[in-house]
Amino acid sequence: MGVKELGYLVIEARDPVAWDSFLTEVAGVMSAGRAPDGAALYRIDERPFRFAIQASERDYLGAAGLEVSADGYDAMVERLRAAGRPVADFSSDEATARRVERAIRTSDPAGNALELYVGHATDDVAFVSPAGVSGFVTGALGLGHVVFAAPNFDECHRFYREVLGLGDTDLPEMPVGDATMRFAFMHAANGRHHSVALGEMPQPPSGCVHIMLEAKSMIDVGKAYDRMRRAGVPQSASLGKHVNDEMTSFYMRTPAGFDLEFGCEGLVIDPASWEATAHTEISVWGHRWSWQEAMEAAQGATP
Ligand SMILES: [Fe+2]
Repeated sequence: MGVKELGYLVIEARDPVAWDSFLTEVAGVMSAGRAPDGAALYRIDERPFRFAIQASERDYLGAAGLEVSADGYDAMVERLRAAGRPVADFSSDEATARRVERAIRTSDPAGNALELYVGHATDDVAFVSPAGVSGFVTGALGLGHVVFAAPNFDECHRFYREVLGLGDTDLPEMPVGDATMRFAFMHAANGRHHSVALGEMPQPPSGCVHIMLEAKSMIDVGKAYDRMRRAGVPQSASLGKHVNDEMTSFYMRTPAGFDLEFGCEGLVIDPASWEATAHTEISVWGHRWSWQEAMEAAQGATP
């Protein structure tokens, strides 16, 4: 038994106030008070939190929280130990702060921080977006997805498949400039096309490539795009539609430096019968990256 879903993200922030306005005013995420450990909590659904913003000396993705089924947890911890990964049990205070039954802290072979937990709490206060987002697609599909850098790509890919039990959804080699880059888009035990993706690239300073939230409608995406522009948040990629997960989305830069992909209408797969694809294109249309435009401007090319 493997990972059920991407459950939450812990983000270390030098400026938690900047994160607060980014999440609530631009992304439309709901503020939900503070955890006992002082982290500011944010909701997108009935869970007590999906984002925990911790004041820190650095801007960094502190951990991706992956929910594991109770009957598969002990075996997974054993596999982590056998694979030589660090395993640190949560204290009861730490478990209380995350609103989980029990958990461990570990990392993948590229050093990306993970928390594996069992049991989540549900809040009885309805989610209401402060920016008018009609809702986020979560439920069994989990929070969304996270994309990590994996310079030691093969070792990391094997870790997520064999130790955490994720499945391959799409294993493309994507054109990036004049070169190609390997990716592994991997699903948990739910219908979301990918909950975790790995890119064969150097580790960025923020410890993450991007995270993704899926809103319920295209109107939500368009309005979020308008809020990004009004707030002066840098756009990282224009609106577009991905080939592999069919997500219509745009990308904007979070206060940590990694991107938030804000999308809708993502593909839902059957994880039991899915056979991995190997796409060669990133997008059906759109998704013009700011680095592409900067390169073209430097070369004097017309888009
Ligand atoms: Fe994405």
